Amino acid sequence: MTDNTPHFTSVAKSMELYHQAGAIIPGATQLISRRPTRYAYGFSPAFAVSAKGGCFTDVDGNEFVDWVSGIGAMILGYCDPVVDNAVKSQIDTGTMYSISHPVELELAELLIERIPCAEMVRFAKGGGDACAVSIRIARGTTGKDKILFCGYHGWHDWYLAANLSGEELDDHLFPGIDPIGVPVALKDTAIPFAYGDIDALASLLEQHHGEIAAIMMEPFRSQLPPTGYLQAVRTLANQHGVLLIFDEVSSGFRPTASGAQPLVGVEPDLAVFAKSISNGYPMGAVVGTRQAMQPAAQMFISSTYWSDTLGIQAALTTLKEVERRDVPATIHATGQRLKHDVSNLIQQHSIPATCEGVDWHPYLRFDGGHNTALINTLFIQEMAKRGVHMNTSFYINAAHGDDEVQKTLKAIDETFLVIRHGLDAEVIPDLVEAIPQTEAFKRLVR
Ligand SMILES: Cc1ncc(COP(=O)(O)O)c(C=O)c1O
Repeated sequence: MTDNTPHFTSVAKSMELYHQAGAIIPGATQLISRRPTRYAYGFSPAFAVSAKGGCFTDVDGNEFVDWVSGIGAMILGYCDPVVDNAVKSQIDTGTMYSISHPVELELAELLIERIPCAEMVRFAKGGGDACAVSIRIARGTTGKDKILFCGYHGWHDWYLAANLSGEELDDHLFPGIDPIGVPVALKDTAIPFAYGDIDALASLLEQHHGEIAAIMMEPFRSQLPPTGYLQAVRTLANQHGVLLIFDEVSSGFRPTASGAQPLVGVEPDLAVFAKSISNGYPMGAVVGTRQAMQPAAQMFISSTYWSDTLGIQAALTTLKEVERRDVPATIHATGQRLKHDVSNLIQQHSIPATCEGVDWHPYLRFDGGHNTALINTLFIQEMAKRGVHMNTSFYINAAHGDDEVQKTLKAIDETFLVIRHGLDAEVIPDLVEAIPQTEAFKRLVR
């Protein structure tokens, strides 16, 4: 094998399973972001059999460095021994019971100690699940129905209702996905606003004065917020008697061990966590001020598995380990190194691209004119061939060490050679062997 020879063999078995899945599982995957059509179809793996640290092995026996980190859920890395041992011990004493377990209180207390806005806590089992709980609480607490939102918040009716209003959300959610199965009666109950445009938010609040329960938003996604923006959102929410909810499902505990709030200096009324809270075990949490949360005691918010102790034990252990190991510092350092070294490679190869964004989730943005979508796919394809599973961003976890970074940089170096050749010889379309990406998972918050 020469230095430039990709080690990739094939993802034939993955593709076979994917086709079998399509026949018996509508949509083939449980999460749209796991579909191989969202990567380099025919080259990206679709089924994994094992994982450890920052890597996984697929059903075809290929090993990949994984920069998707279980779609953000893995913050410590796959199969973290401390978290897994805590979960195994919990299994030995029972996973759930007919009554509550004290570990619920332990986690609630830790969250209250850790998260600035948290005075009370409820649990759930996933991000969309917890977002829906927070919306129920906001509606119940304020007695109002409408939600102003930006960003992605899961699959539930309250959120997809926004798509009932027609084409306007095509730019924000999954373009081309209709709100099939969402009651038409919910039309105009969830109204999108553009992140960063405080005047637009102010006029929506005026327009729907007295009808809004909450402003639901990610505090940031790929870039930190413009100076003063979130403070201004907080002020508007106060002026209109509207609850402010931060969806911290994706940013999680990577920015700091207490989430986003210490970084942005703004406290919402409610905040939602999932994914990285429990390093891959099913878990979600809604935290908030006593004033916003206490009325939930009278609301019907109730589910059997929200007391499952495995996710709760995993969350308790993960959050302790995130702080003990200073995981945010490790992740920030890895992100800064990647941005620096990838930017150098971009320059060396004169690739029309940038590598920027928040340290814990840097992204590559190609600007290849009409070829941009093809270059994205070519990049993912060539990286997959070289044993690196990613889209065009790096969702960093603490187990991504020097080996993973070195291997990735080498693969990027080689991939940029391919892209450079494609640009020089004007053969980018010919180099794309995978089925090109047709859809982008668009969100309001960039
Ligand atoms: C900000 C945000 N909220 C909610 C969700 C939904 O979480 P889940 O897929 O666990 O339901 C996601 C998932 O990507 C997310 O990024």
